[in-house]
Amino acid sequence: MTRILLTGIHGQLGWELMRTLPPLGEVIGCDRQALDLARPESLRAALETHRPDIIVNPAAYTAVDQAEREPERAMAINATAPALLAEEARRLGALLIHYSTDYVFDGTKAGAYVETDATCPLNVYGASKHAGEQAIMASGCRHLIFRVSWLYGRRGKNFLLTMLRLAQERDELAVVADQIGAPTWSRMIAETTALALARYRGQQGLYHLTAAGETSWHGFAERILSLAYARGLIGKCPPVRRLASADYPTAARRPANSRLDCTRLREDFGLVPVPWETQLELCLAM
Ligand SMILES: NC(=O)c1ccc[n+]([C@@H]2O[C@H](COP(=O)([O-])OP(=O)(O)OC[C@H]3O[C@@H](n4cnc5c(N)ncnc54)[C@H](OP(=O)(O)O)[C@@H]3O)[C@@H](O)[C@H]2O)c1
Repeated sequence: MTRILLTGIHGQLGWELMRTLPPLGEVIGCDRQALDLARPESLRAALETHRPDIIVNPAAYTAVDQAEREPERAMAINATAPALLAEEARRLGALLIHYSTDYVFDGTKAGAYVETDATCPLNVYGASKHAGEQAIMASGCRHLIFRVSWLYGRRGKNFLLTMLRLAQERDELAVVADQIGAPTWSRMIAETTALALARYRGQQGLYHLTAAGETSWHGFAERILSLAYARGLIGKCPPVRRLASADYPTAARRPANSRLDCTRLREDFGLVPVPWETQLELCLAM
């Protein structure tokens, strides 16, 4: 039976993967105690113990603003650890599935980014994730790297849950309207990962994996509130004021354009991105 080692099982995406991967084999789910990416000896020991056929790594240092204050820790978890996972995957002959981000780009392109576009991260988190991608690609292991964007879901820490909470607490919300991307439900990424694995025939490299379509954080917020109100998930639907990024300063700079072109995923795996509005409706219907 195929042995699948999964990291970060309490994260948004890890939790969903724990539910979509089991039909593909025996899933060995690891939390931070079982496999600490910041401790190479812990990582090596877990892999030596379980000797998986497939390693799936959704665990990461994801605190984008905090990373500006602790770049060494972000690099250790997002760059050094994936390099070690890749080294171990090569040694074991395992396939490594890893996740990266739209934040490897600076957002200055006019259209959606393709996998071969030049990278230029604007912040420490993006630079650390980019270094992780580079290390995996240079390692010689079999790998698939999915660049995902704007994750949300019904658990964990994310924009959807923040908006639902603020809608109850405030009479008006203000949300950035000049950053464009594709909000993507973590469950859709987990399901697409399982489907890609089921269709795996030696494909290799970087793949963009997001919802179809685009919106701003402001547009996403308005849609969340109207759908959640219609479903009775919130008791009121406060107006959402448009903010410019300049009016909402954060420690880390973020790209204005986070759109990722998913054509390669369709061509190589026959997997078609679902529109972000549909994903949001399905998520809120849970
Ligand atoms: N969230 C987004 O909007 C977004 C956007 C683009 C790309 N991504 C990428 O998508 C992937 C999944 O993100 P997510 O939103 O699901 O992340 P998340 O909810 O923040 O979960 C991250 C997970 O990583 C684990 N982790 C952190 N440090 C660790 C360490 N030293 N050793 C082992 N585990 C550790 C956490 O463990 P604990 O549970 O113990 O804290 C948590 O389970 C990541 O690669 C992320 O970079 C996310």
